[in-house]
Amino acid sequence: MGQVIKVEVNGKAYEKEVEPRLLLVHFLRETLGLTGTNVGCETSLCGACTVHVDGVAVKSCTQLAVQADGSKVTTIEGMSPHDDSARLRRDGQLHPLQQAFWDEHGLQCGYCTPGMIMAAADLLSKNASPSEKEIREALKGNVCRCTGYHNIVRAIAAAAGGAS
Ligand code: FES
Ligand code: FES
Repeated sequence: MGQVIKVEVNGKAYEKEVEPRLLLVHFLRETLGLTGTNVGCETSLCGACTVHVDGVAVKSCTQLAVQADGSKVTTIEGMSPHDDSARLRRDGQLHPLQQAFWDEHGLQCGYCTPGMIMAAADLLSKNASPSEKEIREALKGNVCRCTGYHNIVRAIAAAAGGAS
C-alpha cells in the first residue's frame, strides 16, 4: 500500500504515491528521473547520493522518501540557474561550484562530483570563506575513488573566492 507525499524538488512541486520503504535517492532517480544524484554504497559511507533537504546536506540513501514529505529538496540538477523546468538549465550557465570544479579539474570520472558539490554548497552556505582544513572536514563523508581530493578542495576554495 502506497503513501502519498508532497515534495518540492528543485522548485517544482510533486505529489506522488510511494512505497513506504522507498529510499529518497530512488525516489529522485527512478520516480522523478533526476539521475544526477548517484548511488554508491547505499550504506551512508560514500556521499555520492548527497542532496539538500530543507537546505541541509543529507545522504539520500539514508532517508525514506516518506520522510521528505512536506520538504524542499535540491539535487545537482537544481544547482545551475534554471528556468521553469528544473531540468532545463540556461545554456552555458553553471553554479559557481560547478564552474570551479570544471576550472580546477576537480573531477576525474565524476561519479562523486554531484555529492561533493552538494556537500560543498552546504558548507559554503554556513561558512562563506572556509579554510582548507574546514573544507576537508566538511568532505569527510564524501569519498572520491579517483582520489582527486586535492583539486576538489582547490575547486571549493576557488568557488568561495579564495585559494587553498
Ligand atoms: Fe548514499 Fe553512499 S550511496 S552514502
Ligand atoms: Fe571519480 Fe571522484 S572523480 S570518484
